[in-house]
Amino acid sequence: MLKINSTCTEIKKVIKENKSVATIRGWIYRKRSSGGKIFIILRDRTATIQCVIDKNKIGQDEWNDIDKAYMESSVIIRGIVKKDERAPNGVELEVAELLVVHSGEQFPITEYQSPEFLLDVRHLWLRSQRMIAAMKARTYIFKYAREFLDKQGFFEITPPLITIAGGETGANLFEIDYFGQKAYLTESSQLYAEAMIYSLEKVYSFAPSYRAEKSRTIKHLAEYWHLEPEMAYYDNKKSMRLQERLVSHIAKRLSYNEDILKVFGVNQDDLLMIKPPFKRISYERAIELLNEKGLKREWGADFGIEDERALTENEDKPLFVYNWPKEIKAFYMKENPDDKRTVLCADMLAPHGHGEIIGGSEREWRLEELVQRMKELNMDIEKYSWYVDLRKYGSVPHSGFGMGIERIIKWMLKLEHIRDAIPFPRVINRVSP
Ligand code: 4AD
Ligand code: MG
Repeated sequence: MLKINSTCTEIKKVIKENKSVATIRGWIYRKRSSGGKIFIILRDRTATIQCVIDKNKIGQDEWNDIDKAYMESSVIIRGIVKKDERAPNGVELEVAELLVVHSGEQFPITEYQSPEFLLDVRHLWLRSQRMIAAMKARTYIFKYAREFLDKQGFFEITPPLITIAGGETGANLFEIDYFGQKAYLTESSQLYAEAMIYSLEKVYSFAPSYRAEKSRTIKHLAEYWHLEPEMAYYDNKKSMRLQERLVSHIAKRLSYNEDILKVFGVNQDDLLMIKPPFKRISYERAIELLNEKGLKREWGADFGIEDERALTENEDKPLFVYNWPKEIKAFYMKENPDDKRTVLCADMLAPHGHGEIIGGSEREWRLEELVQRMKELNMDIEKYSWYVDLRKYGSVPHSGFGMGIERIIKWMLKLEHIRDAIPFPRVINRVSP
């Protein structure tokens, strides 16, 4: 007799291995009946399989239970494995015994539903084949990023997410009431990562960053996962070489997950060709290119989606744009000694208009120059006293960068919208479920 704790085999294994009988468990993905038989497609986290239930071959109670069961009911099934070319995976299960664990209520998601409704029932939509594949890719990409950095000798650190000052421009902070004191959700963990290079030298944090940007775009989340490596004694060029190797490693490792790529129509070769070196152009050159393409851009302008698209639409690999104007970059970036209007930094733009995936720079590590810049920007230096302190005791040149993991997922899986790269997206008009 089947029980809730009966030992089960994963469906993918049942399909691959030549078993004669198998016990599986999962959720009803599709269900139909015809001529005294019920056909269900059972889904577990590995695959789906067609199961055929013949009224004459199981008990009356079991038949009644499965007959009543709604889509997405949880079920345990024992059956005979049959090769059948008409079945979706070439294999189907002739059911000998079944147990409906929970049949519940009618599942609210049917075939044609608006994107807004699917976001309302996100907690249920996560069971769709597309979201399952995206969430697996997300897990793997987290793992690939960590495995690369761990192998390079980095320490993973855990920064605070509540701060009293911005880590970037400070213009898009979510304010919170911290026991009566004004505090903010962090927009970047960089400043804390910088504090830790003095003990651990090469570190990264992998944590959420919060941005109260009022932009409603396909690439902005209010809460996103931010990978931020920081390295002692790295200049910006060395940092860029690390970035391209990191991105290439993620692409290569992801490329071997053919089941996932298939769901999104991504070719393995498109990922495998993302190898260093990536093209590098200066900000100055980028402005020239934009003007050649008919977009009238003056030196000093920041790039919008249109500019990023124009620069990368014909690229198959990411593109670095380096040495941006000081005025549109953050306070901590090191001035370029060869052109004081610019800072030593680079943004990595994904190909085909997917936009900025990495922002990084060399840091101003000299005390006076840092304080001078903060004064120019009218920053409240008191609030950053600990950060300034770091430049007083054994300061060293260092660089670092930040990668938006959902931007990577969106680009590599060719998603239309960044929200499908995260299970419970936080965007300007949505904070639930
Ligand atoms: O360019 P940003 O703002 O740089 C920083 O925060 C630096 N402190 C990083 C560092 O040097 N440690 O953000 C870095 C990356 C962007 O390139 C982008 O990939 C991602 O974070 N990002 C976002 N992703 C999703 N939604 C948003 N609203 C994002 N804003 C930035
Ligand atoms: Mg940026």
